[in-house]
Amino acid sequence: MFSSIRWKFIVVYFLLVFIAMVIIGIFIVNRMENQQLETARSSMEQQIETIMSTSSYIATGNWTENREGIQNTLNDWRLGTGETLYVIYDEEVPKILATTNKQYESIIGNNALSYRYTDPTIIGQAFYGERAQSVIMDDVAGNEFMHYSAPVFSSVGKINGILYMTSDLSNVQRTIEDSRAILTNATLIALGITIVLGFFIASSITGPIRDVTKKAEEMALGDFDQFVEVKSDDEIGQLAGMFNHLTLKLKDTIEEMDLERSKLDTIFSYMAEGVIAVDKNGSIIHANPIGQNLMEIDDSHLDSSESFALDKLGMENIDYTDPETLSGETTFQKDEGVYKVKYAPYKNERDHIAGLIMVLQDITQEHRLDNMRKEFVANVSHELKTPITTIKSYAETLMTNEVDQDTQQRFLSVIDRECDRMGRLVRDLLQLSNIDYQKTKWNRENISIGDMLLDSIGKLQLLAHEKNQRIETYIQPDLPQIKADRDGMEQVMLNILSNAIKYTETNGTIKAMAKNRDSFIDISISDNGIGIPEEDVGRIFERFYRVEKGRSRDMGGTGLGLSIAKEIIEAHDGTIEITSKKNQGTVVRITLPVM
Ligand SMILES: Nc1ncnc2c1ncn2[C@@H]1O[C@H](COP(=O)(O)OP(=O)(O)OP(=O)(O)O)[C@@H](O)[C@H]1O
Ligand SMILES: [Mg+2]
Repeated sequence: MFSSIRWKFIVVYFLLVFIAMVIIGIFIVNRMENQQLETARSSMEQQIETIMSTSSYIATGNWTENREGIQNTLNDWRLGTGETLYVIYDEEVPKILATTNKQYESIIGNNALSYRYTDPTIIGQAFYGERAQSVIMDDVAGNEFMHYSAPVFSSVGKINGILYMTSDLSNVQRTIEDSRAILTNATLIALGITIVLGFFIASSITGPIRDVTKKAEEMALGDFDQFVEVKSDDEIGQLAGMFNHLTLKLKDTIEEMDLERSKLDTIFSYMAEGVIAVDKNGSIIHANPIGQNLMEIDDSHLDSSESFALDKLGMENIDYTDPETLSGETTFQKDEGVYKVKYAPYKNERDHIAGLIMVLQDITQEHRLDNMRKEFVANVSHELKTPITTIKSYAETLMTNEVDQDTQQRFLSVIDRECDRMGRLVRDLLQLSNIDYQKTKWNRENISIGDMLLDSIGKLQLLAHEKNQRIETYIQPDLPQIKADRDGMEQVMLNILSNAIKYTETNGTIKAMAKNRDSFIDISISDNGIGIPEEDVGRIFERFYRVEKGRSRDMGGTGLGLSIAKEIIEAHDGTIEITSKKNQGTVVRITLPVM
């Protein structure tokens, strides 16, 4: 408490006033005392001179003879109270000749040097011809007395004797005591006022400072809504003003930083890539939800110092002493997903590398597409190579060897079949490419699905007949027409029906059905053929995908039929799906909207 500025201020202020008052007091009292003593002295001197000049007994030379006259003069002489006059003459020793004291009879004739009420020093000085004075404390009365001695000279310049006067100084003493008391009281009052004033002045100075300190403390605790009242335009007012300015600035900056952070947080949280930041020890510093999910990081990992296994991401060569290893790219796989990891170091405020930031990008789709593309190119090459090899070897045989007419005919028909096959393949590919690039113009017209199914069955009847298969049809009589591209739809029906015939053994049964459901037409073509193994069903619509490649090819298929069918149906806003059981049969369901 006493270390506060307020108290320091009050103490200094107090001491200042106290010292000033003491010095002034001492000076005034001394001055007054001197003045009073001087007044007493000059009054004594004046009285002595008056006696010297008016008393003829004293003025004449022979004092011993005029002793009585002198005593009478003194008896009549009016002195102030407390004043006593002695006439001393030198006779071997200075002796008291006369006095104004009422008991003069017992005093006269006393040795002045040993007399209790006179000062031998100034008596001696007077007999040397000098006037002298002294102040002496009377032990009995406790009062101070002023003593004054003056030599009296004869007309020839000889010292006749001396006039000696004492005067009680108790009045002077009292006056001085009074002044001291007044000054002491004045000092006390002044000090009292000093303390009160000092308190207020100090408070007016320290108040705002304490206010600022308190507000600053609250700011340190995170509450930036602090405002100090500016009460003056002095330095303290300026301090308060500056504080307010600073608070506003700080608040703005912190709000800006919060905004930036929340923006970054939102970006991190909602970005499609996973982001993970680790420090040099491998502890996870930050991980966004996708990053957490991918690397199976939960909140307990974030708080612990457990280190993150970089080798999980294929980053086992990270070495913080070798900056080259700190940035780059890898890929890693998790479940079905493939992820590209880009990593780079981040620096701390001292510009030293503090850790790594990793961005995990999901490239599953690209990876799949890339694989599909490679597979597609491989498939196309393979599909073209086989007929070309066949054609080439047959043609070479025909050109180089002498072959009979029959064999020649047989070879030529193989070449013709392989050419057809290549032609079909190229036509199918072109059709798919046209659909992909949306170059296909669908010529939508009203068509009856029932009629189309029957037509297609008619076209394939011969094939079915060859395999002794039965085709049953269940077509709802009043089926509404749909708006569709006739050729496209026919291609779909033919492909699905021919698949059913192709992949069903002799004596099998194929059912073709069409019915109306709400604003859709459901078509289903089922067979009791070889079926499709469960693991292949999911991929059956992929380009070139065939179950048991070799056998399907022998049946003349390229594996493009179903993918073309799917493209055509989807271009007509319909759906197509296949359910199948190996060795039991296959069902293809198509749904098309009635428009
Ligand atoms: N009804 C079915 N029963 C059993 N397997 C089938 C059936 N339909 C299709 N598949 C299998 O699906 C594969 C893909 O059929 P898709 O129609 O696309 O090709 P493809 O018939 O072999 O050749 P393309 O139709 O181009 O002449 C076939 O090779 C076959 O293995
Ligand atoms: Mg087919």
